[in-house]
Amino acid sequence: MKILVTGGLGFIGSHTIVELLENDFEVVVVDNLYNSKIEVLDKIKEITGKEVKFYKEDVCDKSALEKIFKENKIDGVIHFAGYKAVGESCKKPLMYYHNNLMSTINLLEVMKDNNVKRFIFSSSATIYGERETPKYVEEMGRGKTTNPYGTTKAMIEQILEDLYSSDNEWAISILRYFNPIGAHSSGLIGESPNGIPNNLMPYILKVASGGLDVLNVFGNDYPTPDGTGVRDYIHVVDLAKGHISALNKITKSGPGIYTYNLGSGKGVSVLELVKTFEKVNNIKVNYRITDRRPGDIAENYADPSKALKELGWKTEKTVEDMCRDSWNFMKNNM
Ligand code: UFG
Repeated sequence: MKILVTGGLGFIGSHTIVELLENDFEVVVVDNLYNSKIEVLDKIKEITGKEVKFYKEDVCDKSALEKIFKENKIDGVIHFAGYKAVGESCKKPLMYYHNNLMSTINLLEVMKDNNVKRFIFSSSATIYGERETPKYVEEMGRGKTTNPYGTTKAMIEQILEDLYSSDNEWAISILRYFNPIGAHSSGLIGESPNGIPNNLMPYILKVASGGLDVLNVFGNDYPTPDGTGVRDYIHVVDLAKGHISALNKITKSGPGIYTYNLGSGKGVSVLELVKTFEKVNNIKVNYRITDRRPGDIAENYADPSKALKELGWKTEKTVEDMCRDSWNFMKNNM
């Protein structure tokens, strides 16, 4: 089976390609290299011993997509391409709406024209918004998003639901990711954000490697066990495997819209993550407590039981594994 992966050289895309190749799928990648590096292609080959076909194109360019579909007999699409920085999306909302929505609509139109109706979408726990209970279950539905990035994810989920209602030959899986960290155990692929990182693990890595002096812990007065924010961290390899399970599910079960949380089900605080990182890697991470970051919530984590029941998928890796593999990738790529 031949799968088109958009944004395939990014953090989650690259790990998913490795899993696809290891499960004998054929892979075609489209990526404009906006937030990824061409070297990742060689690393994927080094890990798997297999080649993928690569197009350096923008998914907003519909004619490029038409060409890709003409040149390859695509059986399904996993769509990662998109802008993903929460803060930037508040400053440049039009850029976020234009890019994330146009690329997805183009892609779905070209798929429809080519009668390819198997689609997996990278969504996010951010679509739940802030809820009364910190444990998010799929049935809770979408809440009020707090930034344009999150709103693009919620809007695309709606577009996919409308698409399926209009044409129930589509087999669509919406995957709501919690907080992916970690890296491939080879240390060859991982997350390498440009500039000063926004997210916790990339920031910890910068401080541990001496690139930045101190980690700002955004608030220790939340109603959580140690006062710092609690999130559901998921190893990117577990997350990648979730895509294979979802692909197998839509292939086997056929048309429908299948929405799953991909998380561990366990909340971990900022300080717990920092302490675990220090312990497993035997390295100090300087930190200081600062004010809360605007827009942050105290706590959230997944109820991952639907994915276990319907996909037979659950996370296997521990927070220790995530901290070790993140640092291993950083050391290899300094
Ligand atoms: N944090 C710090 N210091 C930092 C960075 C983060 O203390 O320098 C804290 C945050 O306050 C939060 C936790 O670490 O409590 C995690 O923050 P991240 O920025 O790593 O992740 P978020 O949970 O804020 O956001 C992530 C993704 C979004 C996605 C969201 C889904 O970045 O893309 O999860 O819930 F939308």
